[in-house]
Order: sequence, then structure tokens, then C-alpha cells
Amino acid sequence: MALQSDEQSIDLLHSQTHIWNHIFSFINSMSLKCAIQLQIPDIIERHGAPMLLSELVQALSINKERSHFVYRLMRILVHSGFFVKQKVLTIGEDNEEESEGYLLAPASRFLLKDEPLSIRPFLLAMLDPILMDPWQHMSKWFQNDDVTPFHTAHGKMFWDLAGQEPKLNHFFNEAMASDARLVTSVILKHCVSAFEGLNSIVDVGGGTGTVAKAIANAFPKLSCISFDLPHVVNGLVGSKNLSYIGGDMFKAIPKADAVLVKWILHDWNDDECIKILKRCKEAIPSKENGGKLIIIDMVVKKNEGGDDESLKTQLFFDMLMMALVTGRERNEKDWAKLFLDAGFSDYKITQILGLRSLIEVYP
Ligand SMILES: C[S@@+](CC[C@H](N)C(=O)[O-])C[C@H]1O[C@@H](n2cnc3c(N)ncnc32)[C@H](O)[C@@H]1O
Repeated sequence: MALQSDEQSIDLLHSQTHIWNHIFSFINSMSLKCAIQLQIPDIIERHGAPMLLSELVQALSINKERSHFVYRLMRILVHSGFFVKQKVLTIGEDNEEESEGYLLAPASRFLLKDEPLSIRPFLLAMLDPILMDPWQHMSKWFQNDDVTPFHTAHGKMFWDLAGQEPKLNHFFNEAMASDARLVTSVILKHCVSAFEGLNSIVDVGGGTGTVAKAIANAFPKLSCISFDLPHVVNGLVGSKNLSYIGGDMFKAIPKADAVLVKWILHDWNDDECIKILKRCKEAIPSKENGGKLIIIDMVVKKNEGGDDESLKTQLFFDMLMMALVTGRERNEKDWAKLFLDAGFSDYKITQILGLRSLIEVYP
């Protein structure tokens, strides 16, 4: 009897810890955001050697009354794997003393301001209050008629608010451009064949043109168009083989041999995707004449009950699409149905981008 109640107590306390850890998951992301806003990764990187807490505190632009709090921020970020501690020898009054200094953990390189493949703009955008507020309204949205929790929070659809709020438009475009730099660095190394033989390509929803620019540079004979809403491309200047066109992908897409849609279709529900896919099909020639659609998006794994990290990330993105826009993440069966419903005949999935895939779809 005593044993049973011991087990019950252990279960109870275990459940409490499990729930506490979920309640406070946001502390991981907000601590990281704080460190990035204080430029801690950049300061430690610039230091060039393990950085003592006293040196870090000195270098930070903070109210010096807050100095003794820095250790606690660093402690959780060491625990979550963004910094590592290394022993260093310092010169004390009479002899050498051993202390510990902070270094960047490998993933933190991608949080640096000047790192070309930095994920920093994406982090700052996703954790901005404009994109966080919808989460506070999700249960209300389940009970009302609004299109998205974002709409419940802000009274407008995401893309409409981005068109009216320069701050949102700017940080969102920056976030997308940072991801586009990372993705193109992989694609142009490992998926070159997807672009060979094409004379022209249009990147639909191409943002400020990061992907189209990289493709235009890599293939100087390929004529590239970056197509997006007018408020995104207004004022952007192209080059010899790159041009910007403003418009609405639900109405018409500029004609080209291939249409590229990166991180577009997951923003939209199935009916909206079919409309976009039909416009894409109208923009390209037949399969025999070299026409194709290139999609960069996630293909969610089958094992939805599993506990591996990548599935968790895909489920996070799926919830993000539910909170902000009308879209979702799809598994292969969902994708195949969309292609068929939009009149495409065949597709090929290449899982090359970590959690995302390159999907070539043929008319
Ligand atoms: C998630 S972002 C992806 C940006 C870019 N493809 C990338 O992955 O870096 C979606 C893009 O679709 C654009 N977009 C939204 N509605 C659109 C429409 N009706 N016509 C054209 N572009 C649109 C947005 O402005 C935004 O740049």
C-alpha cells in the first residue's frame, strides 16, 4: 500500500515537472531573444577567446546595476546549448587562478549579426509581439468565426497588415531573406540539376528577391523574375537577368519555363493552394516543352506519434501556420492530392534541405 502511494507521488511530481517545463518553454526562446538583442553572441565571438563573465559584463551595453543578473541569463543559455564554458587561467594577485569563460556553441554561429547565413532576423521576427499576440487568441479563435488567430488579434489578415505596417513588412521580409540565403546556399550546391536547361524562371512570392538574385548570379543566361505583392517589390532594382514584378499570384503569374514557390503553399489552405497551383500551371509550358514547378516546402513525416526532434519542428511550423495564416504543413499524400486536383501529372520529391524538400512538379 505504501509502495503504491510512493509510486503515485512519483507520478504526480513527474507530471508536475512535465507540465512546468511546457508552461515555461517560452523562457527558452525569450532568454535567447534577450541575449541576441544584447548582442551577446557577437560580443563573445569578437572577444576571440573564452570570455570571463566579468569581461562580458564590462562589454555589454547595460545598466551596470544589472551586472549580477547576467550570470543567470548565461546559465540557462549554457544549459540550452547556445554557449559552452571553458576553463581559463587568469593572473590573480599572487598566482594564476583557474576560472571559466564563455564560448559560442556551434549552432550559435547562426545567431551572429554579420554571419551571412544568420538565423537572427528570423528569430527576431517570430518573437516580435505582432507575431506572438495571435497565440494569446488561439482558444478564442477556436470559438469564433475569424479566419485566423492573427485576425482575431489584429483585426486583419497577415498579408494585409504587412502591406499597411512598414515595420512588420520590413522585419518579415528580412526574416524571409535570411532563410532564403541559407536555403539557396544548399540548393545551389546540391540541386543545380533542377535549374539546368531552363531559359527563364519566376520566383512567385519571392519576397525581396534573395533566391532569384542567387539563381540569376549562378546562371547568368537564365532570365529570372522575382514576383511578389507590390508593397514588397516596389522600388527594388533588378540586374541584367533579374527583374522584379509586383502583382497577385491568385490573379496571374508572369510566364516562364519554371515557376519556383518557396515557403508559399504552406501559407495557404487547400482551396487557396489549388488556385495558386492553377495559376502556376498557366504560367509554364507543357512537360514536353520543359515546363515545371519547383516547390520548396516541408513534407511532414508519416509517424505523427513519434518523438524525434525533426517531427517536433515540423509540428511547430504547422501550428505557426494555423496561428498566423490559413495554411498548414502537408505530408506526401496531401501534396499528391493538391497536384492532382490542380491538374499536374507527376512529381518528384528530393529531401535535401533538412526538414524541407525540393519538389519538382510536372504539368
Ligand atoms: C512566407 S513568405 C516566403 C518568401 C520567400 N519565398 C522565401 O521563402 O524567402 C510568403 C511570400 O508570399 C508573398 N505573398 C503573399 N500573398 C501574395 C500574393 N497574393 N501574390 C504574390 N505574393 C504574395 C508575401 O508577400 C511573402 O513575400
